[in-house]
Amino acid sequence: MRRPGLTTLALHADRPLNPTASVSPAIFQTSTFRWPEVEAGAQFAGEHSPSAFYTRMGNPNQHQLEAIVASLEGSEAALSTASGAAACTLAVLPHVKAGDHVVAGKTLYGETNALLTKVLPRFGVETTFVQGSSAADYERAVRPQTRVIIVETPANPTLDVVDIAAVAQLAKANSALLVCDNTFATPVNTRPITLGAHLVFHSATKYLAGHSDVIAGVLCGSRELVGAAWDHLRVVGSSLGPFEAWLVIRGLRTLSLRMARHNENARALSYLLAAHPKVAMVRYPGLGSSPDHEIAARQMSGFGGMIYAELKGGDAAARSFVQNLRYFSLATSLGGVESLVQYPASLSNLTPDQKRAAGISPTAIRISVGCEDTQDLLDDVENALSLVV
Ligand SMILES: Cc1ncc(COP(=O)(O)O)c(C=O)c1O
Repeated sequence: MRRPGLTTLALHADRPLNPTASVSPAIFQTSTFRWPEVEAGAQFAGEHSPSAFYTRMGNPNQHQLEAIVASLEGSEAALSTASGAAACTLAVLPHVKAGDHVVAGKTLYGETNALLTKVLPRFGVETTFVQGSSAADYERAVRPQTRVIIVETPANPTLDVVDIAAVAQLAKANSALLVCDNTFATPVNTRPITLGAHLVFHSATKYLAGHSDVIAGVLCGSRELVGAAWDHLRVVGSSLGPFEAWLVIRGLRTLSLRMARHNENARALSYLLAAHPKVAMVRYPGLGSSPDHEIAARQMSGFGGMIYAELKGGDAAARSFVQNLRYFSLATSLGGVESLVQYPASLSNLTPDQKRAAGISPTAIRISVGCEDTQDLLDDVENALSLVV
């Protein structure tokens, strides 16, 4: 039978895991479950992610969410987590030990960077950050001890795009795992597992949930790799709560509809910015002028809702712009239906040196283009730019 489309999967992939007849999943807001008999306790305790034992180990709402995201990403299995940062940690931790080496893309979300530069070195695991974004740059960074290659594509906030298929081949040739942060692209725009990545993770806080009302994460991969992550999750205890899982499920129902609008609005806004005399630089993977456009056009079916830009006039211009916007709230996070704008240099937990190495300009802004009516967003940006002196 033909594989259903992503919108259909997002609406139905969890149905076999709904133990009730409710059309909207019931919320299993419970920490523990009754056992039918004494022996059941021991049996549940020996199972992988049991559905009805103890919610840190597993819960029907977690499993429903995992079934949907695995179907969207095209992975064998998925694991929900209490945050995107937890999903990232659980993607890497099971696969490294003292003496091992990690290769990482040059621009990564702050906590991913902190895992590699602050946490893992204490356990004898070293990371090399790749300077360019080509597969050859990655190849130069690989060592015999490399166990994991981790990339974020498009990267936060610079929107660098990594050639997933080429880096996946390199990982395989070196018996390493390719871990891919797919938060910005979502499976609607890029499906890294189908390009050869071993593990994909999301801050589900962002586009997957889509309404800026929940913190959550998901990790996707083979049954074996997701099983290894679950073995760590039960120890770390970073399980997703049932209500949070339900909120992400509800958001996922409209993921492909929302992404179509994010793609369209960001494309229109990137054109406006690229043509504006007060704008010094715009990065959007869909723009021919963006450095990684060719790779993006090959591996992305839409270019997403994030824009990275720099105004002429530096810090004063950027501050005036973000404060004169009406529909773009000045706030951290991204991927919700409402537009947000962030001044990364003022918020990121990277040091000035780390920002320079990651290619983050001190006066660039990051725009999360929401689902408002396109013309209202364009008018808002045009007006805020007109007020920049
Ligand atoms: C690309 C990316 N990955 C991971 C994370 C971490 O996710 P969370 O905040 O859900 O822990 C974020 C958060 O902003 C992010 O932008």
